[in-house]
Amino acid sequence: MKPNISNNLVWHHATVTRERRETLNGHRSVMLWFTGLSGAGKSTLAHAVEEHLHQNGCRTFTFDGDNVRHGLCSDLGFSPQDRVENIRRVGEMAKLFLEAGVIALTAFISPFRADREKVRSLVPHGEFLEIYCSCSLEICEGRDIKGLYKRARAGEIKNFTGISSPYEVPQDPDLVVDTGGLSLEASVTKVVQLLRERGVIETDGIDQ
Ligand code: ADX
Repeated sequence: MKPNISNNLVWHHATVTRERRETLNGHRSVMLWFTGLSGAGKSTLAHAVEEHLHQNGCRTFTFDGDNVRHGLCSDLGFSPQDRVENIRRVGEMAKLFLEAGVIALTAFISPFRADREKVRSLVPHGEFLEIYCSCSLEICEGRDIKGLYKRARAGEIKNFTGISSPYEVPQDPDLVVDTGGLSLEASVTKVVQLLRERGVIETDGIDQ
């Protein structure tokens, strides 16, 4: 059973608030949630957006599925239950980074709609921006950068997203990026423009 310890805990209110951190930083904090199939280009895009933002003076941090699974989530596999827990932990962690005034970028398959919506509900309206990296299974499998699709097709990897485990396409994402067709530069531009439209940053640093 889940231990219920929250009855004996008292929330401590910080004097250095998120608002004060945001003022110091000169930009708002937000969660940029990249979702899509393995090989769709989530990490590549998230890191490229981060690079752009960093060069323009923003405080950022990128959480990457493969990396987080080496540490914080190293006890989790790819069963549906483990994926739910993976996304729950990452969502809570990214929420803390939001409090820290940081633009938190996450690159996880996050295949289940309900889990992504749960993360959205953790933060105030408009502070979770879901970015669907749209790339067909054929293209992802054709790229097969890590050789995992081949192994999944051969039955060596169980519960592989797109092959033997579902991916639920976002129904109403904040942004769709056609990572199967667009260049990396064009994809970065789309995300950075979204941030400017939503008032996260004041100038996007992109020449028109
Ligand atoms: S998630 O579904 O829980 O969000 P996450 O993004 O953390 O997944 O990890 C996905 C990465 O783990 C993939 O990019 C791939 O490198 C690796 N991986 C290993 N096994 C699987 C699997 N069964 N399904 C999908 N990805 C897998």
